[in-house]
Amino acid sequence: MPSYIDVPSFPLSHGGKAIPAVGLGTWQSNPGEVSNAVKIGLQNGYRHIDGAWIYGNEKEVGEGIKASGVPREEIFVTSKLWCTKHRNVEAAVKESLELLGLDYLDLYLIHWPVPLNGQGNDPKFPKLPDGSRDRDTEWSINQTWEQMEAILEKGFVKAIGVSNFSEAYLDQLLTTAKVVPAVNQIELHPYLPQHELLEYLAKKDILAEAYSPLGSTDSPLLKDEDIQKIADKHGVSVGTVLISYQVNRNVVVLPKSVTEKRIIDNYKIVKLDEEDMRTLNGLYKTKGKRFIKPDWGVDLKFSHW
Ligand SMILES: NC(=O)c1ccc[n+]([C@@H]2O[C@H](COP(=O)([O-])OP(=O)(O)OC[C@H]3O[C@@H](n4cnc5c(N)ncnc54)[C@H](OP(=O)(O)O)[C@@H]3O)[C@@H](O)[C@H]2O)c1
Repeated sequence: MPSYIDVPSFPLSHGGKAIPAVGLGTWQSNPGEVSNAVKIGLQNGYRHIDGAWIYGNEKEVGEGIKASGVPREEIFVTSKLWCTKHRNVEAAVKESLELLGLDYLDLYLIHWPVPLNGQGNDPKFPKLPDGSRDRDTEWSINQTWEQMEAILEKGFVKAIGVSNFSEAYLDQLLTTAKVVPAVNQIELHPYLPQHELLEYLAKKDILAEAYSPLGSTDSPLLKDEDIQKIADKHGVSVGTVLISYQVNRNVVVLPKSVTEKRIIDNYKIVKLDEEDMRTLNGLYKTKGKRFIKPDWGVDLKFSHW
């Protein structure tokens, strides 16, 4: 029998509710499936749901939360500010709250450090006539952050943070920030462990959150022989090793599934030993890969892009 450990919660620098280390991801969870996935997750121990306005399913995520019967105050709910909404953060957070049927969020993140034209030819992905992204180059992430601080102050959200921010972008944000972001949600898995960025975040007291921890859709990580060996040693699946890896290095992890058995399995984590961690920490040297690489038309200054 594998020796599972309890899912811990990590404190946030803002104080308040600690964040449960395993959260249910909801990207690419169809509206027809996601309310059931959220309900199953919450009824099987999850207390953290990771969502975003751009996923187009916040109404159903809210329905799943209600259907679970778990009291709101026991659940940590995250949403994210989409790129076309940087100029009006309060309206954006109110829209997400309305869709979710909630009166506050536990965490709200700037989804990408790339403001897009909110008056462009598409509400989500506006493009210029040449097909490139219609970026709002007159607006800065520092101005967006000022508005994020205002919604925190007004109580719409309990904590604020960022996502997809490299060290250079965080340095820029911190030149004017009054509140240090509580978290940075980034792609993290053994093929992209981002060791240097994690060291930087630890120094700034910014908690890292791992998205696409399983390698997203059709992932080669799930067929990796080195990871399979660690899974066999512990009598668990490769998925469990990938999720446990992040918690074992004090990173919040956000596996997504709409499949009942996987949702339940993904909440079970194990303690990994030093040798396992050494192997997982080093796989990127020969198999490095980033799975999520939208073409924003701007250099996000990540060391591995
Ligand atoms: N901030 C950002 O820019 C950003 C970007 C990407 C993701 N995220 C967040 O991070 C979450 C997770 O990332 P992700 O959705 O890209 O990918 P992921 O969690 O790495 O992988 C999800 C895929 O793995 C499958 N899966 C789930 N559990 C499994 C298991 N135990 N064994 C085998 N396959 C399994 C899922 O299938 P089924 O669903 O069919 O079971 C789905 O196809 C997102 O949902 C979202 O909340 C944030």
